[in-house]
Amino acid sequence: MNLFNVYPLFNINPVKAQGSFLWDDKGEKYLDFYGGHAVISIGHNHPHYQSKLKDQLDKISFYSNSVQNELQTELAEKLGELSGYQDYNLFLCNSGAEANENALKLASFHNGKSKVIYFSGAFHGRTSAAVSVTDNPKIVAPVNYSERFIKSEWNNIEQLEEIFKTQGNDISSVIIEGIQGVGGIMIPTAEFLSKIKELCEQHNAVLILDEVQSGYGRSGYFFAHQEFGVQPDIITIAKGMGNGFPIGGVLIHPKFKASNGLLGTTFGGNHLACAAAIAVLDVMKDENLMANAENMGQYIENEIKDFPHIKSIRRKGLMIGIELDRDCSEVRKSLLYDHHIFTGNSNDKSVLRILPALNIRKEETNLFINALKGVLQESCEIV
Ligand SMILES: Cc1ncc(COP(=O)(O)O)c(C=O)c1O
Repeated sequence: MNLFNVYPLFNINPVKAQGSFLWDDKGEKYLDFYGGHAVISIGHNHPHYQSKLKDQLDKISFYSNSVQNELQTELAEKLGELSGYQDYNLFLCNSGAEANENALKLASFHNGKSKVIYFSGAFHGRTSAAVSVTDNPKIVAPVNYSERFIKSEWNNIEQLEEIFKTQGNDISSVIIEGIQGVGGIMIPTAEFLSKIKELCEQHNAVLILDEVQSGYGRSGYFFAHQEFGVQPDIITIAKGMGNGFPIGGVLIHPKFKASNGLLGTTFGGNHLACAAAIAVLDVMKDENLMANAENMGQYIENEIKDFPHIKSIRRKGLMIGIELDRDCSEVRKSLLYDHHIFTGNSNDKSVLRILPALNIRKEETNLFINALKGVLQESCEIV
């Protein structure tokens, strides 16, 4: 059997990882400045993470959601404490798309309405409703398309007001990323977020904050939206939550009433996944990683801001978009093959996306900074 060929692959086969580094099958070392797509929050193979998972493997790996699981309770308590959302309830699932799927469904169950507003540039995942609120026609199949999903322009208050004016009674929810990642590190304005909240309250619509990529300390806050003081009704999480172990979650305001069977999943919140997620929260707290994210992000920004070919830098914490005056793909390739540094791209071809582990160290950031300087200077000569 062959693999279904949907991923363009780099010709690199990592077989070992530690901290912010990877090693391939030939023993070559790479710096991971992309965190495996915003997933590696506390660094690869952190000793606390390893020991929590190994201990759990020796006890029990899985049983279904029909029995008590104290690890779920411990996870919810620690997550509530570190995020500041103690009074919210937690539903555990397996991925970012699944978290959004459940959030959209829960909103619709709650207010009995069916239309959803999403924004230009949005990415919320590839499952049914999640992909319907994703702004990329190439990945929305006819089976997913419906006029119930309404696109509004990013950061455009007038357009949003107009939609609510004409269809407000039918709007079940508004879904927005804390910071758009796939869209090219687009940060919402404080006014935009506040207006969304206000309109949702006025029209009995649910505000869903997708913090799958921008959450879990990446922005220097636990959730990116916390900088703006806007409180969502539902928050979705995944990626950094398990540091590579598949787990997602939905944080749910207490006004939403749970009932048996309303939501459910076979694997969500299993023992191993909870052990991984608890280890992540322990390390984030003990090593003060939110502060490190902002300090290291600020350092990188200061060091690179005057490099040639950089048009702008959009950044919160260690969620960094470096906008070049050209397509970034050659720069990425050179960083990877000539300097052994992984970086990311986005739907905006000119934006280099940087998402290192939140415990990245200064000397590791310097490897990236020096390499980027060299690559951009070489690009100058080519022009
Ligand atoms: C903001 C956001 N939401 C949802 C998703 C989907 O997450 P998953 O791939 O875990 O389904 C992603 C993945 O990139 C994302 O960036």
